Amino acid sequence: MSALEVEALLRARFGLETSLLGSATVDAVLKRRAAEAGLAAPAYAATLGESRAALQTFVEAVAVHETWFLRDGGPFEFLVTEAAGWRRTHWADALRLRILCLACATGEEAWSLAMALREAGLGAHDFVIEAFDLSETALDKARTGVYAARAFRSPLAERWRDRWCEPVTDGFRIRDELRHSVRFEQANLLDPRWVEGLTPAHIICCRNVLIYFGQEARSRMLGRLAALLAEDGVLFTGHAEAILMSGNFRCVGPLNAFAFSHRPVDPPTIPTPVVVAKIPTSTRESPPPVMQSPVSSGPVSPSDELAEARVLADTGHYREALLQVDRVLTRERTNARAWLLKGLAETALGDSREAGMSLGRVLYLDPTNEVALLAMARLETLAGHAERARLLRERAARAVAETAQ
Ligand SMILES: C[S@@+](CC[C@H](N)C(=O)[O-])C[C@H]1O[C@@H](n2cnc3c(N)ncnc32)[C@H](O)[C@@H]1O
Repeated sequence: MSALEVEALLRARFGLETSLLGSATVDAVLKRRAAEAGLAAPAYAATLGESRAALQTFVEAVAVHETWFLRDGGPFEFLVTEAAGWRRTHWADALRLRILCLACATGEEAWSLAMALREAGLGAHDFVIEAFDLSETALDKARTGVYAARAFRSPLAERWRDRWCEPVTDGFRIRDELRHSVRFEQANLLDPRWVEGLTPAHIICCRNVLIYFGQEARSRMLGRLAALLAEDGVLFTGHAEAILMSGNFRCVGPLNAFAFSHRPVDPPTIPTPVVVAKIPTSTRESPPPVMQSPVSSGPVSPSDELAEARVLADTGHYREALLQVDRVLTRERTNARAWLLKGLAETALGDSREAGMSLGRVLYLDPTNEVALLAMARLETLAGHAERARLLRERAARAVAETAQ
């Protein structure tokens, strides 16, 4: 089997697009494992098509398993503030909440979910977390539940570690009182047999795995997530994956939670009146006209809303502008103009972290956006990263030169 055929096999069986895993990975792992088996690379590659065990070992070595406690922060903070309320209202009838943690790697995410729900005030028997990954090796570590200090990378993660873990010689061990709530199981998320018998879940966490999937596997997985999420359930994605969630899902909660629920079936469109205060115009450039949409003029388009947001931002009403932009982004996650406006407003408010994320999204959607490149360069300068800032400014200059040609 050639390296290309191995890549096709990984794509077909596990959804993994090897170009997204890191360029040298498949080739490097093929050579290393072939040498360990005392075989030439093609002979070793042939065993991958013949032996399930060989393929399993290989895919475990190729997949990216990096994870840490409270990764991204926002989803867990959102759970702490909301989960008890959801339990009392939407989910009052459930004996126990069902939570799926998909592609949980070495378990930090599943334990973080358990910690967040307990921090929210839920009891040990209020919920059960079923955590899945394809890697048995990773799951062994997850079940052991002992982690080094570097697995806790934020002050909040350290605080929760001190509450929910006990120090042991080789790190920190998850306390028994959390252990009853989490089960780890091996599964290939793309295997249709995996979903058999699973009932819809109140919360699903599927983060940082779709980014490694090819187009077909992503859409298959998105359909599967829609089927697995309870009617009023909440789905968390990774920050780079939120952008994929259109169609069946709508964003709920703060944008940094990357949380989604089912998109309700749209009722027939009824034009909504929008009242916009008259705002002084910008001195920097002439702003678009303020939209005053009468009832009869039909629904407000995103560009109208963005025009309003820009006027607000131009006149120093950054928070109001952010609210307006967030409304657009709730419906249109891939609107680069909205992300740009958001990033600029956050920069103006001094929120560099959020601004960096918003501007990062602009550049994901529109890699040569000069304004975003320069704004990002400014953030890097403020953070003391002169070299990164220089590279961004160079990119911006190239983008301008290319547009001018
Ligand atoms: C980068 S880790 C993500 C860990 C965690 N969700 C997080 O966000 O920190 C990706 C995990 O996805 C798992 N994975 C990749 N493809 C999979 C598949 N087809 N089925 C199940 N797990 C898969 C890998 O084994 C790896 O542990």
